[in-house]
Amino acid sequence: MNYRLLSTALLSQAWKPVRQKFLFSSVNTGLSQLSSLKSNLATMVVNTKELETQVRDRLVQLYKQTPCMPIMVRIAWHDAGTYDVNTNTGGVNGSVRFDVEQKHKANAGLKVALDLLAPIKKDFPDIGYADLFQLASVVAIEYAGGPKIPFRMGRRDAEGPEKCPEEGRLPDAEHKLPQLRKVFYRMGLNDKELTVLSGGHTLGRAHKDRSGFEGPWTKTPLVFDNSYFVEILKEKPDPQLLRLASDLALLDDPQTRKLVEEYASNKDLFFEDYAQAHKKLSELGAVWVQ
Ligand code: HEM
Repeated sequence: MNYRLLSTALLSQAWKPVRQKFLFSSVNTGLSQLSSLKSNLATMVVNTKELETQVRDRLVQLYKQTPCMPIMVRIAWHDAGTYDVNTNTGGVNGSVRFDVEQKHKANAGLKVALDLLAPIKKDFPDIGYADLFQLASVVAIEYAGGPKIPFRMGRRDAEGPEKCPEEGRLPDAEHKLPQLRKVFYRMGLNDKELTVLSGGHTLGRAHKDRSGFEGPWTKTPLVFDNSYFVEILKEKPDPQLLRLASDLALLDDPQTRKLVEEYASNKDLFFEDYAQAHKKLSELGAVWVQ
């Protein structure tokens, strides 16, 4: 077939009405596909919002029955805190659910959080693990009286344990400021974020059988407030309360010390900076599905 002749014939005036009809029907089909895509997307957004609301409700019910807010903040932080900005590996992908990562020394005890979240994951299989851990953490902080942290659903989960980062990416309780900085800079976070996020220790406690340390950082370990900063500044430490070397390290540098002092005297400032830094933490390395 002579294609050049055929195309010349098709482009001729005689074929104009046929061409127009074809063009209109393609445009119409295209438009109707676009509008159905738009409405599918809108339904997805509504469904995702609805899913988030329902899971939030279940988390609040859980915290009412079992005040496990601190360990939810810890599991979310340990999923996020493995992020390496240089290689774009680790981060919020739910990989902390896999046995191989659970066995990392820093993650001792996190099985408790997984077991508590299992019934929620079972009832809402559409929420990914990465979203579930991060949502459990922001709801825990709000429930404990802390700031409202902006939250977005849609983190893609690591499919298998081969995506787990190697052991040793999280900070150690014996770390002083230079080592803490190295770890937080590797995550793409700065000194201010390091300092304000350390305020997460306003919640919870250490357990001898998990980390080897024992006790809470504040007198109100189930309340999210600025008392962590107040306590670590005290010249005479309360013997009932815990201070890790990594907590006291924040006092070693004039800039981080100044932030500790500001947060100790201004809870609103702490809440504002914390919410911003926590949002960033909750999205480190995220690959979004929507
Ligand atoms: C700066 C470096 C950090 C070090 C070295 C560190 C270390 C530790 C250690 C040793 C424990 C005790 C675990 C146990 O025995 O149960 C702990 C608990 C905890 N950490 Fe950190 N942490 C750090 C940063 C953070 C950050 C940034 C957050 C939150 C954003 C956080 C949130 C928590 C919470 C809420 C607990 C209490 C868990 C519970 O009560 O079960 N930590 N951390």
